[in-house]
Amino acid sequence: MKEFLTVVSETMQEAFEKAGYPKESGRVSISNRPDLCQLQCNGAMALAKQEKKPPFEIAEKIAQTLKDNGGEQVFSMIDVVKPGFLNLNVSQEFVKGYLEKMAADEKLGMEPPEKQKTIIVDYGGPNVAKPLHVGHLRSAVIGESIKRIARFAGHNVTGDIHMGDWGLQMGLIIYEVMQRQPELVYFDDSFEGEYPKEAPFTISELEEIYPTASKKANPKKEEGESDEAFAARKEAGDLYKAGAMECTKKLQDGQRGYRALWDHIMAVSVADMKKNYVNLNVDFDLWNGESTVHDRIPAMVKRLREEGYAHESEGALVIDVKEETDTKEMPPCMVLKSDGASLYNTTDLATLEMRKEENAPDQVIYVVDKRQSLYFEQIFRAAKKSKIVDDNTKLDFLGFGTVNGKDGKPYKTRDGGVMRLSMLIEQIREAMLNKILENKKSSGAAVDEEQAKETANMVALAAIKYGDLSNQAAKDYIFDVDRFTSFEGDTGPYILYTMVRIKSILAKYEQIGKKVDEATLIAAAGEEETQLALAMTRFNAVARTAYEELAPHKICAYVYELANEANRFYHSTKIIDESDETKQKGYVALLALAERIFECCIALLGFDAPERM
Ligand code: ARG
Repeated sequence: MKEFLTVVSETMQEAFEKAGYPKESGRVSISNRPDLCQLQCNGAMALAKQEKKPPFEIAEKIAQTLKDNGGEQVFSMIDVVKPGFLNLNVSQEFVKGYLEKMAADEKLGMEPPEKQKTIIVDYGGPNVAKPLHVGHLRSAVIGESIKRIARFAGHNVTGDIHMGDWGLQMGLIIYEVMQRQPELVYFDDSFEGEYPKEAPFTISELEEIYPTASKKANPKKEEGESDEAFAARKEAGDLYKAGAMECTKKLQDGQRGYRALWDHIMAVSVADMKKNYVNLNVDFDLWNGESTVHDRIPAMVKRLREEGYAHESEGALVIDVKEETDTKEMPPCMVLKSDGASLYNTTDLATLEMRKEENAPDQVIYVVDKRQSLYFEQIFRAAKKSKIVDDNTKLDFLGFGTVNGKDGKPYKTRDGGVMRLSMLIEQIREAMLNKILENKKSSGAAVDEEQAKETANMVALAAIKYGDLSNQAAKDYIFDVDRFTSFEGDTGPYILYTMVRIKSILAKYEQIGKKVDEATLIAAAGEEETQLALAMTRFNAVARTAYEELAPHKICAYVYELANEANRFYHSTKIIDESDETKQKGYVALLALAERIFECCIALLGFDAPERM
């Protein structure tokens, strides 16, 4: 279904053409003077110079042509104002017709794409055996929304979690476990039997093992520590790291016991990750990781060498990616380290190669911390240059900013530790539950604790996701529990609250024995009704822009505006008490359609609304 402004513009463009002016100049846009008019067309202004006529004269002729050709079916006001603007209001009968078509369409008027694309969204990116922290929140939340928006735009979209499951962190864990329990069968080279099914650690042990190992390998000088003492610890650290690196290498080379231990690390860690992602309403189609492509690395490297794309540099194997037009430094992309080990880059290149073979994507979108932007520029260039992907495969880096606390520094726990994702979710859930209970108590309603908890969890998710997504991805933002959980202002809870109000009006309408399904739209008469109806017509254009610009914040801005209009409307209009049946049906039909638009928008953002609050 064509976008509302497109349909309106077409009427105007026809008038331009009939009046003897170029059609393209007849584009209609949303008014930047909403106090004067709803829409405007500045085409006459732009034409004045080339037509050598005063713009006012051109505008008047167009207005007349428009009126002579039935333009008043679309526009209820066509005003020519000095020096040559066309100020327009749209006919509410026409708006009604547009909304009716939206209502009849399952996708609320969203146009199918000209060509369906195959898209992979690479997001989440958690590291195995390290607890998810607030940095992982953004990738998950933004990536999930991008996936849903692209799918809604009609594309074939696959979400891949791309776990960090193959690097030095795995070697560190194996090495640390070996220090603690050298008697474990995984470390017995002569063992030929079956390894135990049970993991030798729990998730909380695993979450302690990794940071301990990491600290041992990279000791930091402590306060008051003498230089000699630190030097000794550093030396021990280097030895420790060498041990961990050896473990990494052996693991990657396929040592049986290490692989078996790695399988345990994966199983324990992935089960925990899944819980976290379920809590976030985030869902991946593929649970691939860096390890998935391990076996294809040798052949890839061989080809890169043979076809001359990669060359040795200081012992390492690299692909030059510098271009003449570069203004900033662009180091080569390293494919193998000097000891022959593969690295983060190698797995990303091999993953692209695999994706090309298995999915043949037209586009791959990476939702990763913006501090990795140079890295991805190197990867993209290396992949194109060495024909790992075709020239026409679009590779997009959607880099996001940092989550900060109110002090403007990265969000931490109260005692300055890393904020775990699970703790952050718990914080918001608690704050939300308190607010909901307070509201209930002050309204004197009976409280069902279990129910309140369930509702609080749902609203909490909206608070977190909306708080994140309403910012442009690339910007840092402040994680503000009080603001995010507020029922007023540009927040998730406000959006849900508005929806719940609408649902309750629709439910009341049914309670008085009428059917929402049978309510039919009418041309809006009142100001609030008109504004709500107009905002509703913009849905498909907003969804398209959000897709094209990979910008969930545009959906947030829209849904916020829609919520404001809906609030104004139901506060100013008696609906259940309206005695004029036709009017009442018109209001109900308008709200029912608005509710569908809300549902669709929040689904694109990745959260749901409760029935009651
Ligand atoms: N695991 C990585 C990290 O924590 C993010 C992975 C991003 N995706 C990718 N294909 N490299 O930094």
